Amino acid sequence: MKFTVLTIFPEMFAPLKESILKRAQEAGLIEISLVNFRDYAASKHKNVDDIPYGGGSGMVLKPEPIYFALQDIRKTNCKQRIILLSPQGKIYDQETAMRLTAFDELIFLCGHYEGFDERIRSWADEELSIGNYVLTGGELAAMVIIDSVARLIPGVLGKESSFEHDSYSQGLLEYPQYTRPPEFMGMKVPEILLSGHHAKIEAWRRKESLRRTFLRRPDLFAKAEFMASDYELLEELAQEYPELARHRAKWERFRPRPKLKRRTKASDQAKPDSQGE
Ligand SMILES: C[S@@+](CC[C@H](N)C(=O)[O-])C[C@H]1O[C@@H](n2cnc3c(N)ncnc32)[C@H](O)[C@@H]1O
Repeated sequence: MKFTVLTIFPEMFAPLKESILKRAQEAGLIEISLVNFRDYAASKHKNVDDIPYGGGSGMVLKPEPIYFALQDIRKTNCKQRIILLSPQGKIYDQETAMRLTAFDELIFLCGHYEGFDERIRSWADEELSIGNYVLTGGELAAMVIIDSVARLIPGVLGKESSFEHDSYSQGLLEYPQYTRPPEFMGMKVPEILLSGHHAKIEAWRRKESLRRTFLRRPDLFAKAEFMASDYELLEELAQEYPELARHRAKWERFRPRPKLKRRTKASDQAKPDSQGE
């Protein structure tokens, strides 16, 4: 997958040359290309911004340099997506990260100063914001998106399963993690994790994931999809947190059915019992 960034501060992208993304680039799994759109400015002083029409403070990014840079990058033989970074965009989340992995190339437009001339917006396929706050430029936002999309690309994390249990991947927060030593400053690793009993560990993790999501992110818990195997775990949690039982309708359909009584030959001829079993 290719990530192309249109920016006037390409030096800001040095962090992408470290660690996991560095290895992913060396392995040819991802490619990151930085395009300084100042190079496409026609004026003698390579101006990329100008004062706003109508007055007001700050400078606005001019349309021409970005337009000509995009013309250079646009291809028809691969699935490209132009993403304009803006605090006015749709809030970026894990679901969006997953969706973006379907493209061959993501092209980011990084704003600066007071932002973009409004006409630039019409060349973008979508506008994304990384949160309800205002940054000085789109560079950090582009890095956040590149990092979180790249780690979903097969092979980037080494083991493909590495992100499956991550927070948000299944609509829940991840369970607590521990490593050695088994005890530190009197704080012990939960016994179950040392037991080597895989099924019990899985159940413990799922329950803690449900607990964490309920306690920390009730908004996510309210939207979560549950599985039949969650029934008992959720009922146990409902004993601990009576407010959690308010959501019972979401897992009630998984309530195990009462077992049918086995019929003996004699009872076959007898009248069916009152429950019709
Ligand atoms: C100072 S901001 C401009 C804000 C603009 N005046 C407004 O109120 O919408 C400069 C640039 O930083 C980037 N930026 C700022 N906050 C952002 C956010 N939350 N998410 C993504 N990009 C952001 C955008 O590219 C924006 O054009």
